[in-house]
Amino acid sequence: MKQFSLFLTILSGVFCSISQPASAQDKELTLYTQRHYAFDQEVYARFQEQTGIKINVVKASADELITRLEEEGANTAADLFMATDGGALYRAHSAGLLQPTTSTTALEKVKPPLREKDAHWVAMTKRARVIVHSKDRVDPSELSTYEALADKKWRGRIVVRSSTNSYNQALLTTIIDADGRDKALEWATAVRKNMARPPQGSDRDQVRAISAGLADVAIVNTYYIGLLETSEEQKDRDVAAAVKIFFPNQDDRGTHINISGLGIVKASKKADLANQFIDFLLSEEIQKLYPANTFEYPVVEGTPLSDRQLKWGEFKADDVDFSVLGKLHADAIKVFNEAGWE
Ligand SMILES: [Fe+2]
Repeated sequence: MKQFSLFLTILSGVFCSISQPASAQDKELTLYTQRHYAFDQEVYARFQEQTGIKINVVKASADELITRLEEEGANTAADLFMATDGGALYRAHSAGLLQPTTSTTALEKVKPPLREKDAHWVAMTKRARVIVHSKDRVDPSELSTYEALADKKWRGRIVVRSSTNSYNQALLTTIIDADGRDKALEWATAVRKNMARPPQGSDRDQVRAISAGLADVAIVNTYYIGLLETSEEQKDRDVAAAVKIFFPNQDDRGTHINISGLGIVKASKKADLANQFIDFLLSEEIQKLYPANTFEYPVVEGTPLSDRQLKWGEFKADDVDFSVLGKLHADAIKVFNEAGWE
């Protein structure tokens, strides 16, 4: 119902802009995005309120959007490309699809690796992919690294989503980078053997499986715990209460993080408006809102974390260059296939 009324709000916005004079049409940006979070609509509404610039959203997977941008070429309607994976941003830039941002905030307040060195893309949020475990059946002292999930003691106790998911692919690129391809293949094979069921469902479904007693540990992005903890549904909040977050690899390279970020499409003729939008997403106002609303981590230094994130704990993040996520993307898919990880 909420989604339906949101749809009506968006629809009425579309009609409003149609009835406005032609010049108002120029104050629109088309955003190709992989993101799927309800809160983003609020961010776009605030941006429109403050600048008069309307954001038209086109949602699909990163690969679909990259293919579409390539096919549409100079005729694309897209002004901005947004992804939930540094690897996808790297691939979009490598395909020559992006132009550098001149956003002062991006250039001054977000440094590589959180942006491409020449600012062809910039991160807006960070996300941590962690181990989540049953409060009752697993003691945190039993956990250490992603690598250690290959141990036989986890046989029949792990759940993870499918290897077709970009979050898992990104994680595996960092394991290939750190340990080498052979070790990464051994790892993926052993973890697949340790699974309580074939990979399926979303990150939230893995947490539900732990809560239901089907498994003891899962690999999940932390913000999904935030979404469950704050859900309107009591049963979601119960699911979240059954698990704890564990930040792996604290004694070596750090916990795997990925980014959500965006770049201006090379063919866009509205770079000035697009730069305003990037400035807005990196503003203190919006950076402060992500930690408490999408439960992602801010990218602009000095932005406070939310109480919920502080309660989960501070952690050492893997500072791998996100280009690794793009360069090793195809290898990661091959390794997953060879490991029999569906
Ligand atoms: Fe997600």
